[in-house]
Amino acid sequence: MCGIVAIVGQTPVAPLIVDALKRLEYRGYDSAGVATIDAGALGRRRAEGKLVNLEKRLGAEPLGGTIGIGHTRWATHGIPNETNAHPHFSNGVAIVHNGIIENFAELRDELKKDGYAFTSQTDTEVVAHLVSRELAKGLPPVEAAHNALKRLEGAFALAIMFQNDEDLIVGARNGPPLAVGHGEGEMFLGSDAIALAPFTNSITYLEDGDWAVVRRDKVEIFDMDGKPVQRQRQRSVGTSYMVDKGNHRHFMEKEIHEQPEVISHTLAHYVDFTTGRTKPLELPFDFAKLDRIAISACGTAYLSGLIGKYWFERYARLPVDIDIASEFRYREMPLSKKSAALFISQSGETADTLASLRYCKGEGVPIGAVVNVRGSTIARESDVTLPTLAGPEIGVASTKAFTCQLSVMAALAIHAAAARGTVTEEEERKLVKDLAEAPRLANQVLRLDRQIEKVARELAHYKHVLYLGRDTNYPLALEGALKLKEISYIHAEGYAAGELKHGPIALIDENMPVIVIAPHDRIFEKTVSNMQEVAARGGKIILITDEKGAEKSTIDTMDTIVLPQVPEIAAPILYALPIQMLAYYTAVFMGTDVDQPRNLAKSVTVE
Ligand code: AGP
Repeated sequence: MCGIVAIVGQTPVAPLIVDALKRLEYRGYDSAGVATIDAGALGRRRAEGKLVNLEKRLGAEPLGGTIGIGHTRWATHGIPNETNAHPHFSNGVAIVHNGIIENFAELRDELKKDGYAFTSQTDTEVVAHLVSRELAKGLPPVEAAHNALKRLEGAFALAIMFQNDEDLIVGARNGPPLAVGHGEGEMFLGSDAIALAPFTNSITYLEDGDWAVVRRDKVEIFDMDGKPVQRQRQRSVGTSYMVDKGNHRHFMEKEIHEQPEVISHTLAHYVDFTTGRTKPLELPFDFAKLDRIAISACGTAYLSGLIGKYWFERYARLPVDIDIASEFRYREMPLSKKSAALFISQSGETADTLASLRYCKGEGVPIGAVVNVRGSTIARESDVTLPTLAGPEIGVASTKAFTCQLSVMAALAIHAAAARGTVTEEEERKLVKDLAEAPRLANQVLRLDRQIEKVARELAHYKHVLYLGRDTNYPLALEGALKLKEISYIHAEGYAAGELKHGPIALIDENMPVIVIAPHDRIFEKTVSNMQEVAARGGKIILITDEKGAEKSTIDTMDTIVLPQVPEIAAPILYALPIQMLAYYTAVFMGTDVDQPRNLAKSVTVE
């Protein structure tokens, strides 16, 4: 996803903007640029690829000026090259944009008829020319920007700069987030609070439809009708968090190893380890009165919800409808007045998940959001926020957020079971006690990293991998395949083990390792049969199990990763760790960009 930083300040801004853009690198990008106004002259430097290329460009041709805008681009319209990199210019107007202008083709044709020449393939350039055309009518910059904004359809976060006014940046938001950072005699705009952390932690998030007139000494915010609006100014939490790798090679490795701590923090928010009970929750619905709950999310977050489905239905006897958000948002799921909805999102900005939330809101359904970013749009538009306390997750591949999402889902399922009377108080205490084991056991599982690194070294030689699992290990099989493919680029598929004979078994041969996730639980024997079917056809098995499973399984495997015995409700949290480490080390051997894999963004704020 693109990143925006803008500063109207007191000192040269180009190096500050580039540093701030570095804090947005985790969002994923493929080119970058910065523009400033220096003594009335608009200057620009852009570069394809990583920010280091832009820094080289600026080193060779520095940019002066105390007002500027910068951007990291994740290509939507137009290939990732310097010409399409932002900022885009039009007659003294400079602009950076995150999102998609859905009516850009119509606007482009209109502007071409008015004589505007396009130099890029981007949708963004139409906005620069729209503003420029309003200026050419003699309008002042603020009015020109406002008129241009009213023509736009689609998703946008924008920062607009004007050569003839060195004390003005106009920001606007409709979809992708944009925050105002309040300084002393200087002001900032950024895609999130992490980008602005070096400058300020006094933040105002714009709402959809807002636009802001930002000057060194004040910010005025308006709605699209031009009416002044007040937005809450807040102290951003945790953004002073120094986003660095510590002694790890990648953020992903660091975040994998932070899991015992952040799982513990998250669980402590929902369960009382001393009483063994789940904590009271201020919910907009009563679990005891619900006849179903809808869950929707994307990617890894969706898979945490899929595991949650097993828990809600098994322990709380509460039916769950779950769907990936890009399908949910158009499915028009019928929702009764006795329904509730849960949306799971690390970033809290995923467009499809947000759209699904808004569908449910339109249906009058109470909404809970399991999010990792408290000030995010999904958090602010839900009736209750159920936080994961994972801390900023920088690696594009979600790891600690996933196990924290699982922790929330498990705690909620136990809470619901207690509320619905489907578990006794004693059973509740047992479940809480078992869940509370997760952080300690996670520490033990992480000590398998050297063995898993060896397995990954072998796995890196293959082009195709199949993951199998049953029950709550089936979503883990899907997650393992997602992790592997998104960071190592090896093709991987996750399948319900019981489905093997319904097609995938045709793929089995010595060229496609089969990773089987199978703790020794009540269906272990069923999965052993699947492994026998694989072995009988020359398939190579990597078994992820526990001591009992390793003892019981007589099958000859390529490798067996043995975890400690873990309680059933904690198993998905703990078995997520080896599949994360397997993907991580395989990607390291493949030499891919582990933290920012190609084509991926940390948060997908466009459809
Ligand atoms: C997970 O490794 C991926 N990066 C991706 O599937 C991610 O989980 C998905 O895009 C949802 O993001 P969100 O949790 O921020 O909504």
